[in-house]
Amino acid sequence: MAKKPLRIGLVGYGFMGRTHSNGYRKVSNFFDLEYSPVLKAVCARDEAKVKAFAEQWGYESTETDWRKLIVRDDIDAIDICTPNNLHKEIALAAAAAGKMILCEKPLSMNTAEGEEMVAAVEKAGVPNTVWYNYRRVPAVTLAKQLIDSGKLGKIFHYRANFLQDWTISADLPQGGAALWRLDAAAAGSGVTGDLLAHCIDTAIWLNGSIKNVSAMTETFIKERKHNLTGKVEKVSIDDACAFMCRFDNGSLGLFESTRYARGHKALYTLEVNGEKASLKWDLHDLHRLQYFDHGDEGIVRGWRSIHVTDGDQPYMDHWWVPGLQIGYEHTFIHQVADFLQALQDGKPCPPTFRDALETQKICDAVLTSAKSGTWQNVE
Ligand SMILES: NC(=O)c1ccc[n+]([C@@H]2O[C@H](COP(=O)([O-])OP(=O)(O)OC[C@H]3O[C@@H](n4cnc5c(N)ncnc54)[C@H](O)[C@@H]3O)[C@@H](O)[C@H]2O)c1
Repeated sequence: MAKKPLRIGLVGYGFMGRTHSNGYRKVSNFFDLEYSPVLKAVCARDEAKVKAFAEQWGYESTETDWRKLIVRDDIDAIDICTPNNLHKEIALAAAAAGKMILCEKPLSMNTAEGEEMVAAVEKAGVPNTVWYNYRRVPAVTLAKQLIDSGKLGKIFHYRANFLQDWTISADLPQGGAALWRLDAAAAGSGVTGDLLAHCIDTAIWLNGSIKNVSAMTETFIKERKHNLTGKVEKVSIDDACAFMCRFDNGSLGLFESTRYARGHKALYTLEVNGEKASLKWDLHDLHRLQYFDHGDEGIVRGWRSIHVTDGDQPYMDHWWVPGLQIGYEHTFIHQVADFLQALQDGKPCPPTFRDALETQKICDAVLTSAKSGTWQNVE
């Protein structure tokens, strides 16, 4: 049967522009769905570069102004892959134009912006999703299935880290292309919105809502040259953040993220300890789930390392044969597949803007707590 086209308009061709484009190109080879993405147009400000990107990835056309892209009537869905300070403006315009929206994380710069975005997509009634892609690592999805099936019993502890080391040099400037993450005006916050947002999204998906938080942040390098002004300016982002929290289900959470953990490039780890069993996962070994079941016979009881590659494990029946693993880029292919499936079924594709707003509220509570030095309730 002929596929229904889903005509994509991509804004931003950086790191995420590439992962998403790869997802759109591959999804129909591996998932048999009613809809199939069509790479209709890509938008970025530099005409020569955006044309070269379109050529390399197979986009039919280009734009240099996202406003023009949004009003085109040959586009069904806008994919927002720009720095965080542009998410709201683009999403509001896309919703007003009746386009579906796939927005990169974090949803917004702060809760107030996020609330406007949720109101806009809900008023327009347009399908929407936020690219918290770690939910779609098969081993993490399996963790969700194990927790939901009750195998862990009552949960006592949730622990997550996201560690990097790329901003340790005091000579690194802030702002502009590639370094917008160090500029609070473009990023909103530092590791809290960039990295902990991922940990929080996975945590509330696996373990439910967070009630309150107590946090500390640090900015180790106080001033850096700004690429846009050429002047040395104050650094306003958090370089590191650690917080503890209480979940609604009574369990305790500990989260840490930094860009100053020498030796770590992108070490996202999580661990959940329950009454009957525990599990842990590590992005550097993303196809494995570590699992300990206290119900095992004593003489063989111990941590088992589940190689998540079998056809009865999440997503894996779409890939190769049992024993052969997949990687990081596949999480984006899975998110596209889930979006297309949701469209086919007339259902939302989580995390929706509303789901992602909860993460935004927790990030805001974390940053407020770090400033005030007191516990903060999540709004
Ligand atoms: N889901 C994930 O794991 C993940 C990973 C990395 C980044 N992100 C998120 O994705 C977004 C983009 O991050 P990135 O790493 O791809 O950044 P990047 O710097 O690699 O790319 C940003 C792109 O936005 C474009 N851009 C900037 N201003 C624009 C404008 N006015 N009009 C059109 N295009 C414009 C730039 O040209 C560039 O192509 C951020 O919100 C980030 O938090 C998510």
